Amino acid sequence: MATQPLTPTAPRPIDPDNMNAFLGRAVQDMGAAIQAPLILIGDKLGLYRAMADGEPVTPAQLAARTSTAERYIREWLNANAAGQLVQYDAANGTYFMTPEQALALGVDDTPIHLPGAYRIIESLMKDLDKLIEIYRTGQGMGWHEHEKCLFEGTERFFRPTYLANLVANWIPALGDVEAKLQAGARVADIGCGHGSSTLLMAKSFPNSHFYGFDYHPPSIEQARAKAEAAGLSDRVTFEVASAKEFPGQNYDLVAFFDCLHDMGDPVGAAHHVFQSLAPNGTWMIVEPFAHDNPESNHNPIGRIYYSASATICVPCSLAQEVGLGLGAQAGPANIETVVRSGGFTNFRKATETPFNLVFAAQP
Ligand SMILES: C[S@@+](CC[C@H](N)C(=O)[O-])C[C@H]1O[C@@H](n2cnc3c(N)ncnc32)[C@H](O)[C@@H]1O
Repeated sequence: MATQPLTPTAPRPIDPDNMNAFLGRAVQDMGAAIQAPLILIGDKLGLYRAMADGEPVTPAQLAARTSTAERYIREWLNANAAGQLVQYDAANGTYFMTPEQALALGVDDTPIHLPGAYRIIESLMKDLDKLIEIYRTGQGMGWHEHEKCLFEGTERFFRPTYLANLVANWIPALGDVEAKLQAGARVADIGCGHGSSTLLMAKSFPNSHFYGFDYHPPSIEQARAKAEAAGLSDRVTFEVASAKEFPGQNYDLVAFFDCLHDMGDPVGAAHHVFQSLAPNGTWMIVEPFAHDNPESNHNPIGRIYYSASATICVPCSLAQEVGLGLGAQAGPANIETVVRSGGFTNFRKATETPFNLVFAAQP
């Protein structure tokens, strides 16, 4: 979805080829958007999970398996087949999932699980009136002011990426950090939300202690419950605290996962991290993948991130003190400026994925 290289010109007649190409994309987009509630229905009612074995089912069989109403399930299956989320066997009147469809939609807690992210879209549609109002007034809208499905949606959107990358790739890219974590280190995870990243690290590094902080009390409650359920409460503590005031000193690693750009005063946060690190400690900053120039982000991934930024991240930042409003596509140069303004002299990009930039900073 590159920006069309059309400079503004004098009025000209409609070009039928351009018009058709535009409408073709719009039809695809509209289909994806109107299908979003069906993905949520499939996720919440366990419809994808019930088909994840790849066995063909009739609508009646799927309805019986999931205690749902057959007439609706028949329509749901046809919508999913039209969207290529399930397959249809016309000869037998059955529907089934390929292994790839099943893995992405019907198996929980994998590195490519998709449906959870749709909870974010659900929250944004519910928040539409509030969003229209802040677009008029210019006011911020704090994280806590969103519909609560945003919090679960965010956890489920990011967790697959963390499962795939955090312990296997990102921490090893931070130099001596992995060895410190194996030996026993103090780690602070700031803006930890429901604590996915904190708990994943804690499971992998049993000699280390982890402290998760977030300014949002309901998220911290969720994170505590998850730590308890995982049997990690002895080494993982979750507390309500802002990025500029979280307690503790001598952290070997301070981590910010997809939250620095959400903060109103990221420079203030950087100052505080600087003061809380142990000598030779490391600040890991995970940010959405972005280039420095907006035009380089006008692509399918940038589209998702700019859309989230325009509805969640910039409003969150504008609701806080300073209100810098970095945005989710701030890009490496802006992040570096924030980090160096906080006192750090060493800053580098440690690694990246198509979705993330991982930076390492040291005093
Ligand atoms: C996009 S979510 C990321 C959550 C979590 N790190 C993850 O990756 O799943 C951003 C988080 O930053 C938190 N946050 C925003 N501003 C904050 C601040 N100034 N201090 C601490 N947490 C903040 C929000 O409450 C939210 O949980």
